[in-house]
Amino acid sequence: MNRRDILKAFLSGGTVLLVAPALLTSCETQDDPGGGNPGGNNNSGPLTIDITSTEFAALASAGGYVVKSGIIIINTGGDTFVALSAICTHQGCVVGYNSSAGNIQCGCHGSVFSTAGAVLNGPASTPLAKYSVSKAGNILTINT
Ligand code: FES
Repeated sequence: MNRRDILKAFLSGGTVLLVAPALLTSCETQDDPGGGNPGGNNNSGPLTIDITSTEFAALASAGGYVVKSGIIIINTGGDTFVALSAICTHQGCVVGYNSSAGNIQCGCHGSVFSTAGAVLNGPASTPLAKYSVSKAGNILTINT
């Protein structure tokens, strides 16, 4: 194929096959607020936090929560903690925990999720990713 043939193919729409992969890659990045990580966070390994540090003081009491590295960590009471992606699956806003309702809410368009990540109320239709949490002393390890 010479230069003239390439130009003809371009003008007749034949370059769609050449351009399409680049467009698909671009859309994938824009549609995934987690940057390609299914959990929606930017961690590449376990996240460890010391719940006695001032940064995580909210976790000292039942109903407290923090958002760290795209993960919402919630003290659900009884020395139990849950961790989920903090990135709403609707359009990528950061969610928060409503302790009186016992659910996770997105302030952007009103989606509500259970502490297991399930969608309780849309417009989101995909659950939040949930991560396992283990506790050893004052250290929480969240496996992302
Ligand atoms: Fe969360 Fe729309 S971004 S409900």
